[in-house]
Amino acid sequence: MYRAKAVTVVPSFLLVGPSGAGKTTLLTRSEHGTAASTHTSQSPQAVTCRLPSSVTARSSQYRAADDPSKEKGRQFELIDTPGHGKLRHHAFTALESEKRLRGLIFVLDSAAVASPAGLTEAAMYLHDVLLALQKRHTASKTSKGPASIPVLIAANKLDIFTGLPAQVIKKKLQQEITNIRTTRAKGLLDSATGSEGEDEEREWLGEGGEGVFKFKQLEESEIEVTVLGSIAIGDQAQTDEMLQWVAQQM
Ligand code: GTP
Ligand code: MG
Repeated sequence: MYRAKAVTVVPSFLLVGPSGAGKTTLLTRSEHGTAASTHTSQSPQAVTCRLPSSVTARSSQYRAADDPSKEKGRQFELIDTPGHGKLRHHAFTALESEKRLRGLIFVLDSAAVASPAGLTEAAMYLHDVLLALQKRHTASKTSKGPASIPVLIAANKLDIFTGLPAQVIKKKLQQEITNIRTTRAKGLLDSATGSEGEDEEREWLGEGGEGVFKFKQLEESEIEVTVLGSIAIGDQAQTDEMLQWVAQQM
């Protein structure tokens, strides 16, 4: 007798963020339950993980505990990307082409963003990632492409005493992206005066025109941004909130 084989599509989540933020450490912890030591990444890697029993995927919440599909529903894929400035094209390629993408996790080092240089680096990368997601959303309207991609900003290394709390980081990122957005807009204007009324591609992040940038402005492009803290190593490791967010998108 013919029995249709269920096609299971494992939802996939992309890890991006500056070098040394803890992406690969979070990946190994999610895969094995404990963090292994890491080297700076030079290429992307994908692993299949399983939600811990304390967390239930949103799509499985009404299934009976002994339903075999519930077990399958715990699986998700994490794609790690290198954070080095010269290797970020891997992240953008994955972001543009990965069909099963259910969410993006932007990992940053909570202590590194306490310095102006660290904050600028993280905010510039985040700005470009959000802009790429905004373009992906605009393109999906015409090409029946993938829908909205939620973003989790994981303020990692909260165990370091110089680390800033997640909500302070959220505010600082919004301020810094406000500056970046204005600077980029000026750059575009300057170059546009040289070209004879060329149709410049819209490169502005978020609706709401000039002025202060808020993550909320991205809801227009169905990009929902959440900021949470995490600790990827040691006895105080803390990744439950991150995994709960992952489970909500599954
Ligand atoms: P790239 O591969 O270069 O993009 O960096 P990455 O984001 O993958 O960073 P990685 O996971 O390799 O971690 C960098 C360093 O930070 C390692 O020495 C980790 O052990 C350390 N680390 C990661 N997470 C934490 C954390 O939550 N707290 C502390 N204190 N250290 C952490
Ligand atoms: Mg890495």
